[in-house]
Order: sequence, then structure tokens, then C-alpha cells
Amino acid sequence: MKTNTIRVWAGAALLSISAVAMADDHGAKTMPAEVPMSVQAASGWTNQSGSTLYIDAIAPSGQITGHYINRAPGFGCQNLSYPVTGWIYGTAITFTVTWRNPGESCNSITAWTGFFANGQITTLWQLVRNGSTGPGQIMKGSDVFRPTPHIMRESLLLEQP
Ligand code: BTN
Repeated sequence: MKTNTIRVWAGAALLSISAVAMADDHGAKTMPAEVPMSVQAASGWTNQSGSTLYIDAIAPSGQITGHYINRAPGFGCQNLSYPVTGWIYGTAITFTVTWRNPGESCNSITAWTGFFANGQITTLWQLVRNGSTGPGQIMKGSDVFRPTPHIMRESLLLEQP
């Protein structure tokens, strides 16, 4: 599958070709909200804990670069940007974050692996701390990422000093 042909963000204009307009409770015609049909560059994805994966670029090879802001309760390295590297292969995705930056370092790495389906990225993750000596010390969990609304991304941009 050619990755650069599937990076389509189906905005209202595109959806109007294929989607059926829906009627709300008052009978007014509304178009469905913006629905991503794939993972694309310059997109943001927020998980159930409020953390956000930003995919900044996708190379023709499928290699991705981006950044991640952790907001999950109970973890360190919150509300700071950490670099993301990974790969997309069709609907499959994997990415990693090393929790090290000048602001705060957490001595750990997380790797997520999952897939894009139904407009969301479903993943399993493993977090390993520097100095771990056994597989039982590797933390595991699952994260589901949904598209970050544009409005939220814009308001976050406005909040930057
Ligand atoms: C650490 O505490 O060592 C660094 C932060 C780890 C945050 C984890 S990564 C998996 C899970 N999903 C998130 O969005 N945050 C937590």
C-alpha cells in the first residue's frame, strides 16, 4: 500500500462526496464532524488519559517524527514535549518516546504498538525504566488515541509564551 496515498484527512468537503448528511433533532441538516480516514502528518491524537501524540511528519518510507505530551495521572514528565519516532505501515503504527529532556527526565522509555481503525489509534504500550533487570519490571498498558480537535490544538498554541 502506498502510504502517501492514504494520508487523507476527510474534512467536510471530502466527506460531502461520500457521507450522507445527517439531520439533527430539529431537522436541520448537519455534516458529520471531521473524521480522519487515516493517520496523517500534522495531526494530533489524544488518549483516554489526556496525553497527546503529535505526528509532525511522515516520510515516504512510513517513518514518523513527532512529539508527545504526557498528562496521564500517576506518571512523571507531565506537560512537557518529548520527541517521538516511529513507523506507520498501512494501518499499523508503532512509536516510542524517551522521557528525557532539559525540563525533566524520567529515566524511562515507552513504546506503543497498535493500529488505526474506526477513526482512532488503538495501542498497547510498554514502559521500561533505565536499570530494569527483569521482564516483570516492564510496565504495560493500553492507550486509545482519538483525533485532537483543531480548537484544542489552537488554544494550546495560544497558551504558549
Ligand atoms: C515516566 O513516568 O517514566 C514517564 C512518563 C510515562 C507516561 C506513560 S507512557 C504510557 C502511558 N500513556 C500515557 O499517555 N502516559 C503514560
